[in-house]
Amino acid sequence: MPDLTVEQFQSLSQVIYQKLGLHFDDKKIYFLKTRVAKRMAALDLSDPREYLFLLNYADPQGQEMQALANLVTTNETYMFREYDQLQAFANHCLPEVLSAKQARGEKTLRIWSAGCSSGEEPYTLAMIVQEVFPQAQSWDCGIVATDIDENMLRKAAAARYGSRSVHDVPGEYRAKYLLEDGDEYVVRRRTACLVETVHLNLHDRMAMRAMRGFDFIFCRNVLIYFDDLSRKAVVDHFYNALNRGGYVFLGHSESIGRVTTAFKLKRFEDHLVYGKE
Ligand SMILES: C[S@@+](CC[C@H](N)C(=O)[O-])C[C@H]1O[C@@H](n2cnc3c(N)ncnc32)[C@H](O)[C@@H]1O
Repeated sequence: MPDLTVEQFQSLSQVIYQKLGLHFDDKKIYFLKTRVAKRMAALDLSDPREYLFLLNYADPQGQEMQALANLVTTNETYMFREYDQLQAFANHCLPEVLSAKQARGEKTLRIWSAGCSSGEEPYTLAMIVQEVFPQAQSWDCGIVATDIDENMLRKAAAARYGSRSVHDVPGEYRAKYLLEDGDEYVVRRRTACLVETVHLNLHDRMAMRAMRGFDFIFCRNVLIYFDDLSRKAVVDHFYNALNRGGYVFLGHSESIGRVTTAFKLKRFEDHLVYGKE
């Protein structure tokens, strides 16, 4: 294990913060040490100074930062996570947005799962959309699933899951939207095809500017790893990416009240969502 000095740890957490927006405080020194040890072993380096030099000055394409990002992100997820909140989406927000669109003669629905990890969240949203709104098949309907972690995106694209990922899928959804294959579950094609996986760093200003025209943005259990400043940058982009009448959903423990007043806070079935008027 590399013996990172306090200064080296600070330099490492600073470069990670600059590139990814993720904030690692002093309590995370052991965590980062173990991740750096893996990268140093893969690169056959023995001195943390060499590794820091590589990250800071010899990584113009960001390949090493990407390899490190794949190791330092927290990817915990499962289908129908925070089901109560999803019911607020299914019972209130989605019907409201769909009927406004129908009244305007529009037939498009765009959802962004930002920080989708291995894909359980976007496929959950795809199932809910098809369940609540069977006409989705005849609409131009799409869910963009983005994450910085390349390994997770590969899993998301495969749409194949173990039992842990599906244990909270309600019975009525299971047979309809998942196919059993041995001890794995595959998202049925007509549902999987609604989801497109895209590599995206939420802290990349240019890439974020290109994200536009969404009716819903789900960014759950992602911003907890950011600090107020990087969180604000992300939610400001979300505001621009959202259509009027659209909603942002965050995780239960996450609030952006401290960093923006742009959204209108609304409560549905005891859940707070951020609307754009
Ligand atoms: C805990 S998972 C959340 C998954 C899902 N949204 C959920 O609630 O179950 C957090 C995800 O955010 C991603 N993430 C962290 N920082 C990111 C960044 N700067 N850009 C894009 N994705 C990021 C991680 O790779 C990870 O897969």
